[in-house]
Amino acid sequence: MKVQAPEYIAGIKPYVPGKPMEELEREMGIRNSIKLASNENPLGPSPKAMAAVQKELRKVNRYPEGGGYYLTRKLSEKYNIPPENMVLGNGSDDIIGMLTKAFLQPGDEAIMPFPSFLMYEIMVQVAGATPVMVPLSLFAIDLDAMTEMVTEKTRMIFITHPNNPTGSIITENDFCAFLKRIPEQVIVVLDEAYIEFVRDSSSLYSLSHLKTDARIVILRTFSKAYGLAGLRIGYGFMDTRISSLLHRVRQPFNVNTLAQHAATAALDDIDFLEKTLALVHDGLDFSYTVLDRMGLSYLPSQANFLMINVGNADLVFQKLLQEGVIVRSMTSYGFPDYIRLTIGLKSENERFFKALEKVL
Ligand SMILES: Cc1ncc(COP(=O)(O)O)c(C=O)c1O
Repeated sequence: MKVQAPEYIAGIKPYVPGKPMEELEREMGIRNSIKLASNENPLGPSPKAMAAVQKELRKVNRYPEGGGYYLTRKLSEKYNIPPENMVLGNGSDDIIGMLTKAFLQPGDEAIMPFPSFLMYEIMVQVAGATPVMVPLSLFAIDLDAMTEMVTEKTRMIFITHPNNPTGSIITENDFCAFLKRIPEQVIVVLDEAYIEFVRDSSSLYSLSHLKTDARIVILRTFSKAYGLAGLRIGYGFMDTRISSLLHRVRQPFNVNTLAQHAATAALDDIDFLEKTLALVHDGLDFSYTVLDRMGLSYLPSQANFLMINVGNADLVFQKLLQEGVIVRSMTSYGFPDYIRLTIGLKSENERFFKALEKVL
């Protein structure tokens, strides 16, 4: 073969997708397994979103509305942010890709926490730029250490708020101090995929910074609290000088029709969102109580998942799998003692803890 990709593409470690549940069950000889591994919404999609999908299904012979007209207006009403300050994506992943495509080139650097969401590193590498990984400190994002890594090559900083996989937040005070130390030309991406779940009142309130600081990009998603992960839809808020550039690199029909209408309907489904938040918060509190009783240490979390110290994560992961419970081992994230549990339905959480007690 004579085809050749640039070195920086060939060197990327590809994202390894998990197997379909049915396949895994067949291989393991198990049935009725539960997946508490990908921080999804266990309640399913919002009923209003499902009704919207059914209604729009007959129209999928047409191309989607390329500007996301209805959804951006709905978001604009909800957050009081003009549509021109928004970009929609095929998941928030897609917007991460637009940012790295629009703003990074070989020789540039982008700073990110480690461990955190894997796609930052991959997308920065795809752009031929250099990811600069800054280790967490006490399981939380270390803004001081990130500031110290800024050089004249730095173009972008990713901050995950709350962080995946640790569930930690950033306080308003720490963020203000951080911003003062970051040069004017550096874009600060606040990835708030789990923001709806936050209960800590000292948490950074990102939207207030958007109006006063043109460097800030806020990314959000319908994949988690809104239960639409499979439809792939996320959104970003930012200054028009950034959004106008992202629209240049965005695929014209990047968000499909069903996703746009489902998301618009989901924003109106307050009932579903409230149910989801109550379920997750009760599930977290229940988990803390059980873990305290079991004498296991864990990281209290502001998201819909939590990390639990089980000793040998890979082994416990495998043994839980044999019990039909799928979680995530944190070994590849640099925490070989921890698994990450996504909060599920009450019955699923109970089943997880029964299985955990058994395998330990
Ligand atoms: C921190 C973080 N950001 C972004 C995403 C991706 O979200 P989306 O489904 O909108 O692409 C995830 C998904 O797990 C995530 O954990």
